[in-house]
This record gives sequence, C-alpha cells and structure tokens, in this order.
Amino acid sequence: EQIKKGSYDHFMQKEIHEQPHSLTTTMRGRLKDSGVLLGGLKEKEYLKTIRRSRRVVFIGCGTSYNAALAARPIVEELTGIPVTMEVASDLLDRQGPIYREDTAVFVSQSGETADTLLALDYALENGALCVGITNTVGSTLSRRTHCGVHINAGCEIGVASTKAYTSQIVVMVMLALAVGSDQISTQARRQTIISGLSSLPSNVSEVLKLDSEMKELASSLIDSESLLMFGRGYNYATALEGALKVKEVALMHSEGMLAGEMKHGPLALVDENLPIIVIATRDACFSKQQSVIQQLLSRKGRLIVMCSKGDTSAVCPSGSCRVIEVPEVADCLQPVINIIPLQLLAYHLTVLRGFDVDQPRNLAKSVTTQ
Ligand code: G6P
Repeated sequence: EQIKKGSYDHFMQKEIHEQPHSLTTTMRGRLKDSGVLLGGLKEKEYLKTIRRSRRVVFIGCGTSYNAALAARPIVEELTGIPVTMEVASDLLDRQGPIYREDTAVFVSQSGETADTLLALDYALENGALCVGITNTVGSTLSRRTHCGVHINAGCEIGVASTKAYTSQIVVMVMLALAVGSDQISTQARRQTIISGLSSLPSNVSEVLKLDSEMKELASSLIDSESLLMFGRGYNYATALEGALKVKEVALMHSEGMLAGEMKHGPLALVDENLPIIVIATRDACFSKQQSVIQQLLSRKGRLIVMCSKGDTSAVCPSGSCRVIEVPEVADCLQPVINIIPLQLLAYHLTVLRGFDVDQPRNLAKSVTTQ
C-alpha cells in the first residue's frame, strides 16, 4: 500500500500529506502519562550510560543532519549534556576527536548512507556508545549500533525526505525526554512537551490546509533566481531544511541562514527583488526576529514571514509582508509544524517549474558510495 501513489500525483506529495499518520505511528506505544518509553534503549541500561556521557555528538548527512540540528536545543535543555553537531563526511575529513565518554547518535533515514556508516565505524573504533536513529529496520546502521530507535515513519520513496524528517525530530525529542526523565526540575516542562506530542498530528493536519496558499506563493516565486530563509533557535534547522528542499527538487538556489548572522554579511544581498522567508513563530527568540524583520523592511526587503496564528500584525505592522500563519505548538515541536509549508512550497515550485519531483536531477535517495 505504501509504495503506491494512490490519489496523489507524486510520492513526495503523498509523503508530505501522510505526516499526521506517520507521526502517529512514530509515537505509537511510546508516550505514557508518566513519560516516554523507548524499547530500544531499555536493555543494558543504555539510558544510564547516555546520562553519564560527557557529550552527545549528533552525526548525519543532508536532511537527517538537519533533523538532529532541530532537536539539539531540547536535548541540551532536558539532559544538561553538551551536544555537538557533525556532518558525517566532515567528521571523517578532520578525523575529529571522539571519546569513550561520548554518546554518538547516528541519524539516517535509510540506514545505509556511506558517509554515516564510515563515521559509525570510526566512532566504534574510538569506543563511543553508538545510538542509531533510522527508518529502516534491519539496515546496516540499525545492526551495527549498540542500541537505537526506529522512527517507524513507513517507507519513504521520494528522493527528497519529508515525513522521515518530522519523525526523526519527534524521536529525538522523545530521546531528550527519556534521557532527562531523572531530573525533577524539568518535570512540568516535560509534561507540556508530552501533551504537545499527543496533539501534534492534529496540528500537522491543520497546517497541511495551507496547501493551496503555498501553491499560490510558489507561482509568485517561479521566476526567482534565489530564495533565502532566515531562522534561529529551534528554527535555524527549519531554514536549512526548507532551503535544502527548494534546492534539491525545485532546482532553485536557496540558502538557509542564521538570522543572528544576518548583519555579518547576508544583509548586503537584500533588495526589493530577492525573496526572503523569515521564520518568526512564537518562542524565546520572537522579539529578536521582530527586529530582524524591521531591519529587512528598512532595506526594502521582499519578505514572506512565517508566524504563529493571529500574529500577522505583530510581525509585520506595516502590512508590507506576505504572511504564512501556522498553528502554535510547544517551542521544541514547532520545527515539525514549520517545515510543512516549506515542503509544500518546494513541491509546488517543482511542479510549476516543470521538474521531476520524485527523482531530482543528479540525486539519489540513498548515497551508498563515498
Ligand atoms: C541523500 C538524500 C537526502 C538524504 C541524505 C541522507 O543525499 O538525497 O534526501 O537526506 O542522503 O540520507 P539518510 O538515508 O542517511 O537519511
């Protein structure tokens, strides 16, 4: 059933719209009133070993790397363990230090990406505890790691990863909840996130209703040469992942940028023609994003602002931006919601520009060579 397109024109489209369901299966049997149960980490007291580790190193490529980046802040917050990020090929190029006291978390949809598997061999040689997060039961990643969590998103066919991304984030949020479950001081925060997870599929269904609005936005952008995306905090990853979707399938130049770095270079690019998506949903960084929007508008930037429902005038009092309103959820889950309009935008841009959605030029679903 999963390998048929059904009523959809493309697998990518089907997989985007499947997300309320794929997220439900990712969480099935794992959310309890008292906390989170991750069967793959239960044996041999792996959770305790992770808690004792000196740092967590997230390792992946492409979309899987971006998913880990989205989860990084909540893992740091709930566990108190420093988290560093590694693109698998870069870790190998540098032969970066990995220690016995590290927990190395490998994230891969396919579980077969060559760079990620070589980085896994390297971390195993260096004695780290290796945790796998993958969609593919029986994959090399799931066999070679010490322990792990399957994301259970169902088979993903489109080369551009969509539903696996959101399920990966949810699994890493659950990992943060499980590792941090011994901390009394964050109990209320954990409870808020757990109830946010339960209502996430219905919020995803809500945001999917933006489909025709995103198609219309895509039609206004088809001739653009470039598209920038600015995010920060939880949604820096959203900017990177949104831009990656636009690059890989719509074959349009797009860059995701840290909004905090805007004044250190990217601001020079701003004019009335270059479209810029600013992610400004409610979280601790909201007022900083409001001032980024003002700075861009004062340089006559062509802005598309993603904000929480009802915030249109708070993010753009002058009324001169195009606005995408999305449901507000717990801050650490907001990246799951925010990526969806950008997936839809990339999809429609690709169709309108006449490119192959499911098999983009020069790319493969799983890159099994170095
Ligand atoms: C390829 C795919 C990407 C994917 C990346 C990592 O480049 O085209 O969509 O994000 O590999 O794949 P993985 O299976 O390790 O998540």
